[in-house]
Formats: sequence, structure tokens, C-alpha cells
Amino acid sequence: MTIIAQISDTHLMDVESGDVRAPKRIEWLRRCVRDINRLDPGPDAVIHTGDMSQHGSHAEYILAREILTELNMPFYVTPGNRDSRTALRKVFSQDGYFQSDSKFLQYAVDVGTIYLVAVDSVCEGSRMGELCDNRLGDLDKMLSGKPNSPTVLFMHHPPFEVLTSSEPLQFGSRDIVQKFTDILRRHPQITQIFCGHAHRSFMSDLADTRALTVPSIAIDLRLDFPETMDDTPVYQIHSLYPGHGFVSETRFVA
Ligand SMILES: [Fe+2]
Repeated sequence: MTIIAQISDTHLMDVESGDVRAPKRIEWLRRCVRDINRLDPGPDAVIHTGDMSQHGSHAEYILAREILTELNMPFYVTPGNRDSRTALRKVFSQDGYFQSDSKFLQYAVDVGTIYLVAVDSVCEGSRMGELCDNRLGDLDKMLSGKPNSPTVLFMHHPPFEVLTSSEPLQFGSRDIVQKFTDILRRHPQITQIFCGHAHRSFMSDLADTRALTVPSIAIDLRLDFPETMDDTPVYQIHSLYPGHGFVSETRFVA
């Protein structure tokens, strides 16, 4: 069995900023990290699906990395619309998985039996997602190199329309989503797409692939949870059982 824990939308702020929201957001992430480390069996890897920081500052990524390195297992990051590619790359490049010859933060790693692929869906200066031909071509190439492994994509913006949301489409145009969906159809080894951005849970089918979003670790930005859970961080665990497929579960942190 291969297990991936997913956290998202931590929106971390440096305490030095003086923002009253900063200490709790740090505490919520620290509690998630402790909880993940206590899991038995423990995850093979942890993914962060973006909006790691609130302002995209160097100090926020230093803080985030300091907390995430407490994890007992490897962790992988992808940018969200609040993030700065430049600052994120600067702080996390020492972990060795970013491509050095691309301005985008896309890469692939093997985690147990899973081929895990990070997709950079950020459009600088906009909160909407984008996937240019450069990134789509790069994704197609990474997938073509490993056609027989169960494959998971992780990215910030959900590539499906959330019809109950006030902003159903999180990409600049349907054309982008269509091109992305065409790639999914060409690579049936992709079985899951794990996303953030929505700050709540959604799940949808996209070209026979299951795509889902998770609630934000930043509880003050989380949507549609009862007030009684205002101090309970939530994340998800995705387990691949050989011969049975994925099981995803929501984890409530005590
Ligand atoms: Fe966010």
C-alpha cells in the first residue's frame, strides 16, 4: 500500500508581520505535522497543494519549510495563486525535485508504487488558474515517460467546474480545461487529481479520473464547516491498495 497525505492552503504569515491571524495559522500547520507523524501506518509522502503563504514572502517560506521539515517523510509542494514562484523556488529548491531549466514548478517523483506529478496552475497576477502550452507539453512529456505506473497529479486550481460555487470555473477559460482533459484522455494511467484552492471539499469525475479539493488548513478561511470545529484542522489521506484502487479519508486533528 502507498499512502499520500494532502494538506493545502495554509496561508502562513510571519509572526513578525504583526497580523493577529499569524500565530493560529502556524499552530494549525504544526498540529497537522504532528498528527501526520503519529499515523500508523505513516504516509509515504506529504503533498502541499498550494497557497502555502499569504503574501508570497521569503520569510513565510522559510517558516513553512522549517515546520514541514519536522515531517518524518518526504514532502512535495506546488504553488497556489497566493504564492510567489521565485520565493518558493528559492527556499525549497534545496529539496532537489524542481526542474532547474524551467520557470514553472512542475516535476515528477516516484512515491512507493505511485508516479506523483506536480502541475503548476498559477497565473501570475491573477487568482484564476492557467495552463499554457509550455506547461501542458511538459506534463504530456512527463506522463509519456512512464505510461504503466499508477499516476497522481497534484495542483492548486481544481480543473473541474464546481457548479454550486459562486465561481464555478477556476481557470481563465474552458479551452484550457479542455486541453488538460485531452491530456488525461491520452494517459489513462492517471487515476487521481488532488487539488486545493476551494478551501472546502469537492469531488468530481474528469475523463474517468477522480479529481478532488480539500479544506484549507487555515481554518479562518475554511468554508462550510460548523463553528464547533473552529479549532480542528482537517487534512486528507489517500491510500492506494494494490488491486483495489484509492481510498481517501478525511482526518480531523485533535
Ligand atoms: Fe487559498
